Amino acid sequence: MNYSLYRADSMKLIRDPKKRHELLLSEKSSNGIKVIPSQSRYKYDPMPPLVIENNKFKIEEVLLDELVRSENQFPTPLYVYSKRRLIENYLTFEHAFSSAFSKYGMNVIINYACKANSNPTILRILLELGANIDAVTVEEVKHCMACGYEPNQIFYTGVSNSKEDINWLLENGVQINFDAIEDLKKINKINLEHLRTGSFRVIPNISAGHHHKTHTGHEGSKFGVPYSQIVEAYAHLVDLGVKKFGIHCHIGSGSLEVEPFIATVNAMMEILTKLKKELGIEVSYIDFGGGFGVPYRLENEPINLKEVAESSAKIIHNRLKELGYKTLPEIHYEPGRYIVCDASVILTRVNTIKRSGDTNYALVDASMATLIRPAMYDSYHHILSEKSANSNITEKEEYCVAGRVCESGDVLNKRIMLPKLSEGDILIITNAGAYGYQMALATYNGIGLPAQVMISEKSIYPISNPLVTQEIYGLSRAYNYMKLFNE
Ligand SMILES: Cc1ncc(COP(=O)(O)O)c(C=O)c1O
Repeated sequence: MNYSLYRADSMKLIRDPKKRHELLLSEKSSNGIKVIPSQSRYKYDPMPPLVIENNKFKIEEVLLDELVRSENQFPTPLYVYSKRRLIENYLTFEHAFSSAFSKYGMNVIINYACKANSNPTILRILLELGANIDAVTVEEVKHCMACGYEPNQIFYTGVSNSKEDINWLLENGVQINFDAIEDLKKINKINLEHLRTGSFRVIPNISAGHHHKTHTGHEGSKFGVPYSQIVEAYAHLVDLGVKKFGIHCHIGSGSLEVEPFIATVNAMMEILTKLKKELGIEVSYIDFGGGFGVPYRLENEPINLKEVAESSAKIIHNRLKELGYKTLPEIHYEPGRYIVCDASVILTRVNTIKRSGDTNYALVDASMATLIRPAMYDSYHHILSEKSANSNITEKEEYCVAGRVCESGDVLNKRIMLPKLSEGDILIITNAGAYGYQMALATYNGIGLPAQVMISEKSIYPISNPLVTQEIYGLSRAYNYMKLFNE
């Protein structure tokens, strides 16, 4: 299936959302971007966005050598993104859900979870594709507005909200999914008129994710209104004079299973049944959050988005009809990881090969400061060597790939078989686009932040400068404060 929504050659988008939608559903062919059914993703080697040509790795039409071995080489570690893959991911996600829900006359809205990656170029591409935003802090909201999103395209679902946060959001027309009943007491009287659609993030008592630290929907979670207080929370909104309602949940991040997503839909239908029966409330949108996983290991099966979408649409439609809904609500999703994760890799250089005890270390210039997920969540990131593209090299050794931060926990991959490495070799850390750069540590060990580039066909676009050590310890930030000792 090919779609001519966004031609990689001309970079022209079909801006009319209705037309875009029609095209998306009509399976027209094009010369550019592909919508790939989720089940057939990752059935090939190497991992996206890499391709092999003449025993060399490429991203789109650019050889990795061009990035790190040419005259104008970029410094490593380097985040490299594929524009084409980013667009394919967005369209694949949109297609799966829009086509399933449109059968029942329901509209799907995609609020990209910008916490996964807030690079302005990425935000801008997604804006042009028709995405809205899920933001979790006021800082993210302001950043997305600076990148071109209108306040009415931004949905806010933050935790630990201050009075200032809440009133600023209301004054600026940003839709809030309140995190707690207590948040309502913080609204200034004058801003009540701005509270047009009242919505809470609720705890459905279903949780899932790739690691216990990414589970959020369970009883006792710090996020959202506890299950037993949901009716009371909406009763408060009614008391405040609110006439229009939404509801939000997000069960966690990084699940590859269909089952938790369907269990969540069932739990949310129970909640909507209570709200209808006890308060007469019908919601105008249901936001199911994000959490759709991406295979980090070659042997992982991709999530079956089609099944999630089709089962969800059927359950929701049937229950809301039973409840006598006059207008079916909009359905919102907030994918972050799914959109950006496999659109990026990190290129890193081997500084030292050394043996310690039984371990064969490949010590590289990336680290937990570049990519914190392995240290923080024990996450697996598949690593390739530039030599892995060369089919003539068959001899492999096991390495522990570790970084340059002064922490024993700074290990990027504990055991990985790679073609025999030498100092100066380039390694490729895959699936780096989500919660990679965005969680990078700038100040620890004074390392700074790496550069980022985006590939689009044959072109290489820098999309952020490195933040260098001088700026971290720099005059305005810290050196000036040494004056204390001179007085
Ligand atoms: C409220 C909310 N929505 C959406 C997401 C996106 O999750 P993911 O990147 O797994 O799709 C998150 C991430 O934790 C979140 O906290």
